[in-house]
Amino acid sequence: MSDLKKIKEEFISKLKLKLDLAQINEIKSDLFGKSGLITSQFKQIASIAESERKNFASDLNLIKDELQSLINTKISEIEIADINEKLEKEKIDVTLPERTIIRGKIHPVSQTIDEISSIFSEIGFSVAEGPDVENEYNNFTALNTPDHHPARDMHDTFYLDKEKKKLLRTHTSPVQIRTMLKNKPPFKIIAPGRTYRSDSDQTHAPMFHQVEGLHIDKDINMGHLKGCLNYFIKEFFEVDKIQMRFRPSHFPFTEPSAEVDIGYKIKDGKIIIGEGDKWLEILGCGMVHPNVLKNVKINPDSFQGFAFGIGIDRLAMLKYGINDLRAFFECDYRWLNHFGFDPLDVPTNYRGLSR
Ligand code: PHE
Repeated sequence: MSDLKKIKEEFISKLKLKLDLAQINEIKSDLFGKSGLITSQFKQIASIAESERKNFASDLNLIKDELQSLINTKISEIEIADINEKLEKEKIDVTLPERTIIRGKIHPVSQTIDEISSIFSEIGFSVAEGPDVENEYNNFTALNTPDHHPARDMHDTFYLDKEKKKLLRTHTSPVQIRTMLKNKPPFKIIAPGRTYRSDSDQTHAPMFHQVEGLHIDKDINMGHLKGCLNYFIKEFFEVDKIQMRFRPSHFPFTEPSAEVDIGYKIKDGKIIIGEGDKWLEILGCGMVHPNVLKNVKINPDSFQGFAFGIGIDRLAMLKYGINDLRAFFECDYRWLNHFGFDPLDVPTNYRGLSR
């Protein structure tokens, strides 16, 4: 028997056996690989006597085609069998219950910021922003709090460099400076955001939130400040009447300065805002100090106005009955699930847009 016939018969019988893909690939390379049997037969063509060469070449091509198509058939048979086996095994059971979808919740602080922004926007305030990392000038100096002023210790500042030039802002008041330096009066802005002080207990966290308010125009007085805050507190706590008192205080950047308390009482273990004989401090405010206006090149004889700074976290705690401030920042999913707000099922009194 010629070499060619031998190869053909040997491999046809091999390919009749039950083979897996790896075995077939092995056969393929035995035949058609670089030094495969068929490949080397092709290499021999030139050395065959001329009289036989034509026949040899044509036989070789026939055998090559036959074996190649056998191999291809085998491979596709295996692939089809694989697919059928998968279809058999991986049936979809449409009767299984669907997987539960866990929907995220809006954090009470985000919700409160939205509500505050929405209330102030109704009376013409727009929202301004500033960075958490501030320079010492915007945070203190421009706000009439020069070097060595005791207020600089009062804030227990996180400084970011030895020279005490960069810091984490201790309040949102530097946004007043940024806004007034960039634009021309009048100004009517609020600036909600994160603030930082080195403090931590049940009612103080090293990172907390404030909203700054600033209204500067030609004839703004303390009456406007009082009216504005009165409106805000009533809207925020959704009450018709509110007891509010201005207590004289001191901030270097306002003159006169005041802290504002609201009246409340505890009934059946619940806090009721707006009535009662107890007082709760919720914000600091005052008329912007002439020195601050001078620092931002505004003539205090032409323009004046008020500023206030409200602790957002405290308002959120009061409104939503949360008694430990630290829980706000612990990222406990169970807590958020309980106190957070469903983004698709917002309460009817919800006024903000989700951020
Ligand atoms: N920045 C002050 C604070 O953090 C609050 C404040 C803002 C007071 C604006 C007066 C005017 O305590």
